[in-house]
Amino acid sequence: MRLVLAGFGVVGQSFARILMAQEKELALTHGLVPQVVGIMDSSGWLIDEHGIDLRKALKSKKESGRVTAKARKEEPSRNAADVIRDLEAEVLIEATPTNFKTGEPGFSHMKAAFESRKHVVTCNKGPLSIAYYALHELARHNGVQLRFSGAVGGGTPILDFGKTCSMGDQLTGIRGILNGTCNYILTRMEGEGVSFEEALEEAQKAGYAEADPSLDIDGFDTAVKLVITANHLLLSKAGMKDVKVRGIRGISSNDVLKAKSAGKAVRLIASASPEKGLVVEPTVIDREHPLCISGANNAVEFECRYSGPKVIIGKGAGGPETASSLLRDLLEIRGKINGPTAALPAYRMGGVSGGWS
Ligand SMILES: NC(=O)c1ccc[n+]([C@@H]2O[C@H](COP(=O)([O-])OP(=O)(O)OC[C@H]3O[C@@H](n4cnc5c(N)ncnc54)[C@H](OP(=O)(O)O)[C@@H]3O)[C@@H](O)[C@H]2O)c1
Repeated sequence: MRLVLAGFGVVGQSFARILMAQEKELALTHGLVPQVVGIMDSSGWLIDEHGIDLRKALKSKKESGRVTAKARKEEPSRNAADVIRDLEAEVLIEATPTNFKTGEPGFSHMKAAFESRKHVVTCNKGPLSIAYYALHELARHNGVQLRFSGAVGGGTPILDFGKTCSMGDQLTGIRGILNGTCNYILTRMEGEGVSFEEALEEAQKAGYAEADPSLDIDGFDTAVKLVITANHLLLSKAGMKDVKVRGIRGISSNDVLKAKSAGKAVRLIASASPEKGLVVEPTVIDREHPLCISGANNAVEFECRYSGPKVIIGKGAGGPETASSLLRDLLEIRGKINGPTAALPAYRMGGVSGGWS
């Protein structure tokens, strides 16, 4: 399976590392022999129709900050879509930065991939929140797949879990914590009694929050993920304009400590329900509630008409975590194209007790 990798930052590089580390397992357990034929970062393209040496690409990126060093180079902004269209490959892995206003450059990359009949795997929230149905329509029209499990929850398969919950049942509501940075800040405020500003500074130092953290703390990142989740699982036709959003910027230590002394906690909760629509707001919840998680985690509760509530909890971001979602999606695509491949007996025997050697 030939892959084009757009974006070679935290997630893109982690994806390359996992492909190398899992090479044998992917081939033997899933029949997947991936070959990366193009990698793009903001400096341009590295292209090799016979398969890029990922070890060398990572080394070049580490040493020069560019994937294009000593390699064939193209201007990404000028003709990235053309390059994606022209490359002989089966799948585009899209991991460029999220733009919540235009969806670019990811949107154009995905469009070019679909038009040249390539499947798309992405963790880029921007294009999905802006053009969820248009992208699906383009994929369907061209007979290819669009998968995006890493866009919500990083490596935690929130969307896949929700889809499974809805099979043979009916989702009547979704609520949860979709932004690890906000959850980290609120947890620090209640645990150590630090101020909002101090907790935010800590989150930035720990690498959870961006230098400009407004997308997190003002609730937009959560809202974007809620839109994608509602469209995917509740078949809403929602956009950002349909979400009532209030972030955690106005939350004081006093609010947090008052909730704590009553056996409760403040969390930034995203919810989707027929009664209230789509809402993101700081909410006081019981400390015993499964959604009352601490640290930079995500947790989502799916309310099912027949089988009751179910909760999934896990890390909501991180390079290797999100890259594992990209790989999971890739395997799903491969399974749909070729049918499931059973593990070879030799692997099953060695895999249980002795590993590979
Ligand atoms: N990191 C996470 O934990 C996480 C979790 C879930 C989803 N995501 C999503 O995954 C995507 C990638 O995240 P990341 O953390 O890997 O970001 P990142 O580290 O900033 O990497 C972005 C990559 O895209 C390249 N790029 C930037 N502008 C470009 C352009 N115009 N054309 C082509 N390439 C361009 C960058 O090039 P340079 O390397 O030259 O700068 C870099 O290689 C984002 O959409 C993000 O929202 C990330």
